[in-house]
Amino acid sequence: MGDFAEKNTILIFPAGMPRSLEYLDRALREGRNVIGASSLAHDPSRERYPAWLHLPYITTLQFNDALIQAIADFNIGEIYTPNLVVWNYLNLRLKELAPEVALVNSSPIDTELSPYRKAQQFSQSLIEQPVLLASGDVPKAAMSLIEIASLFRHAELIPGMCSHDKIKALYEISRRSPTGDVVEIGSWWGKSAFVLARLACCYGIGKLLCIDPWSNEHLIQGDENGLVDSVPISADEAFTVFKINLLPYANGKLNYLRMPSVTALEHYLKHPIVQTATFGETVYASHIAILHIDGNHSYSNASADITSWSNLVIPGGWIIIDDYIWPYGDGPKKAGDEFLEKNYHKCALSFVMGDALFIKLSY
Ligand SMILES: C[S@@+](CC[C@H](N)C(=O)[O-])C[C@H]1O[C@@H](n2cnc3c(N)ncnc32)[C@H](O)[C@@H]1O
Repeated sequence: MGDFAEKNTILIFPAGMPRSLEYLDRALREGRNVIGASSLAHDPSRERYPAWLHLPYITTLQFNDALIQAIADFNIGEIYTPNLVVWNYLNLRLKELAPEVALVNSSPIDTELSPYRKAQQFSQSLIEQPVLLASGDVPKAAMSLIEIASLFRHAELIPGMCSHDKIKALYEISRRSPTGDVVEIGSWWGKSAFVLARLACCYGIGKLLCIDPWSNEHLIQGDENGLVDSVPISADEAFTVFKINLLPYANGKLNYLRMPSVTALEHYLKHPIVQTATFGETVYASHIAILHIDGNHSYSNASADITSWSNLVIPGGWIIIDDYIWPYGDGPKKAGDEFLEKNYHKCALSFVMGDALFIKLSY
């Protein structure tokens, strides 16, 4: 019991719940002294814990005494519990049973519901303060509070680079988009792809085509200080994560080409059908309503993407150049500004939001 005498121990109970195991990993990383507890005769999570004890079920008369004894035996100073009933019981009784012991987590109900509440707040704020666009189009009907909250919540579950402001702007442009394909250059784990796919579906725009080589070789973009290029990250794993994230939304409405954007252009021009083992078959319109450019950010690549793909965007369609404001270099900005300069007569509107440049082509 040496360690327990010296350190303030944290009790995790019931120890086998997924949130308990997440908390265990964090506590061990932080060098905390941890003990797991369970009421099961055999709990498979036991071997993950550096120390262990058995506690009777909280519904039994023995529970209070066993807990008080454990607190004394193992020098327990804090308790973590993700179980709603145990948390509620300890929240009410711990002060009287063991006033020196703290319940470290807030209500598990609040923890689980907080992202949904945040999504509703986001939705409410978008409804109350819509992004006003001087595009001249009559926008399609606004989404309901639940639809926007759902878009935002599901997007939150996918890691990646698509800020709240960018989601707001994507929503507004989708309401003012013609029909056609939605093409994304650079999808990585699929965050912006999900947002585009969902909006394309809700507003009947068309199918999403994601273009990305998902190869480490293509991640090199020559950023100014080499900070981006030196991040150790697996493109193969990103590809797997992309498929896991997007599969539930596919249903013939999205697909991908695993190749660099310039090669993909030849494919797109020749083949309106894309077939992959994961997503099945998707039939495309062969003209683009929304083009989202978020591939390699070196000037040469960003410029090649804009030059080669923008011709396929139909009148009234949108071009989005992501990371137009980018702390690691100015490739997308230079390429975007050049496009605007050469094509100002074809552009009805342009604005920057969520670090991306949004351009609407004239009719
Ligand atoms: C910034 S990430 C994309 C982030 C993504 N849009 C999101 O929402 O999280 C850039 C992506 O561009 C891809 N990429 C790099 N070179 C490319 C190329 N030549 N053509 C298409 N994609 C490319 C990379 O593999 C990477 O997945």
